[in-house]
Amino acid sequence: MILTPSMTGIASPDPLQHAFKVKSAPHAGRSGSRPVFLESQQWQQWWQLPSQATERALYIHIPFCRKRCTFCNFFENGTNPERISRYIKNLTEQLHIAADTPLAQSRPFNTVYVGGGTPTDISSDEVKLLGEAISRFPLVDNAEVTLEGRLNGFDDDKWHNATANGFNRFSFGVQSFDTQVRQAAGRFDDKDFLLNRLQQLSQHPSASIVIDLIFGLPGQTLDVWQQDLQAVIDSGVHGVDLYQLIGLSGTRIEHAREKGKILGTPISDFQADSQTRANMYASGSNHFEAQNWQRLSSCHWRRDSRERSVYNSLAKSGIEILPFGAGAGGSIHGHGCMNGRDLKKWYQAHDERTTNNSTTMPAAPIQVPGMLMSPNPSAKIDAIFKRGLDSGALDLKLLTKKMTTHLTPLFIEWQKNGLASLGEHKLTLTLAGRFWNVNMQTGLFDYLAKNPIFTQDDPYKQPPPAIAS
Ligand SMILES: C[S@@+](CC[C@H](N)C(=O)[O-])C[C@H]1O[C@@H](n2cnc3c(N)ncnc32)[C@H](O)[C@@H]1O
Ligand code: SF4
Repeated sequence: MILTPSMTGIASPDPLQHAFKVKSAPHAGRSGSRPVFLESQQWQQWWQLPSQATERALYIHIPFCRKRCTFCNFFENGTNPERISRYIKNLTEQLHIAADTPLAQSRPFNTVYVGGGTPTDISSDEVKLLGEAISRFPLVDNAEVTLEGRLNGFDDDKWHNATANGFNRFSFGVQSFDTQVRQAAGRFDDKDFLLNRLQQLSQHPSASIVIDLIFGLPGQTLDVWQQDLQAVIDSGVHGVDLYQLIGLSGTRIEHAREKGKILGTPISDFQADSQTRANMYASGSNHFEAQNWQRLSSCHWRRDSRERSVYNSLAKSGIEILPFGAGAGGSIHGHGCMNGRDLKKWYQAHDERTTNNSTTMPAAPIQVPGMLMSPNPSAKIDAIFKRGLDSGALDLKLLTKKMTTHLTPLFIEWQKNGLASLGEHKLTLTLAGRFWNVNMQTGLFDYLAKNPIFTQDDPYKQPPPAIAS
């Protein structure tokens, strides 16, 4: 059996700080898939077939931001009203076509996520157009429909148009409430504005307001972090995500770090190291749990049941996600798909389709440039691992006996290293395990790669779906 420290972590008196050196990646995964080329006729046929999924989602991507934040590499295109209105026009046309197809109509959607970029930067009328386009799809009762973005520029008019047109969950990036940390990170607005606006929006009788905070930003001392945590409670929001800063390549923070600099505030160039971030995570987790907030995943807490986080939890389960927009990712008929980010090519595909429009072809949204992958043969079992470890408890009853036995040496090492406790039917992560859960997921996939278990007749090895690719 091959077991390495990158799979198991290391023994230490303080596993929260030292079980691993750094967070390995934002997310874990393995693919086992290969790129697939689909003729345009096959693509059209895909949209005429009913979905085989039991749960599914729509993901709609808005790749525009007004400003590039120092920590983020999600910035794709600068905001400009004409650019955005052209994009929304094409996008909503495609959503209308897609909504009428047999694929879309065959089963209701559990959740919709409009993400970016900064979707709240689109105009109030465009929010309405998007909401109307989404409402053409069959949705389950009380489906969660999220609009992502930020508070700056999200005025009353947009808010009313959004809530009147089906959006019932709002995910705002706050990152830090501290005015100086915000300025250093390239964010608009100060703490008072954010607190007031969040308090107003959270009064809504049914919409869920959730915010993202990052720990480890330049200038964000432990004191500032404690104030950030208290501000979440004071703001009245219904849920919060606590993300550890990841040194993403191409960001201004990373460029500075490579030159030995920290982009701190006028009064502090403190930047938490990995051990301090571990303590920041622990104080965040303890803070919300002491206030009786419920933990829904390793990084997400809710104040009450209004916040459900349906999209985030289902997306980790590998459900069908129909993707729309340049840069959107998802999966159709078990095939992973990633639309290219290049807006020029995306528009080109739309322009060509409009000129060559053929009435003999069945209606389907445009096949935009991007990547399509064959079905991941281990998608089902991977979803069990990812969702379990992310939620803080892996239900061993969902695994075969053979799989549990195969993984037991790894589970025992995790237990020895203070990352988990192993029961008869459940592997429960400790606080340290929850902090390091992405490393543990990566370690588990690496363990399975180096110590393979799958055989021809293993129930987890799913046959590829009947659809030709
Ligand atoms: C796609 S971004 C959209 C945020 C939104 N546009 C805004 O201005 O807040 C979603 C979230 O990713 C998180 N994020 C971005 N860069 C990150 C990084 N380097 N490390 C950790 N989290 C990051 C932020 O918390 C952010 O709110
Ligand atoms: S945090 Fe939001 S606004 Fe800032 S660059 Fe990332 S996606 Fe754009």
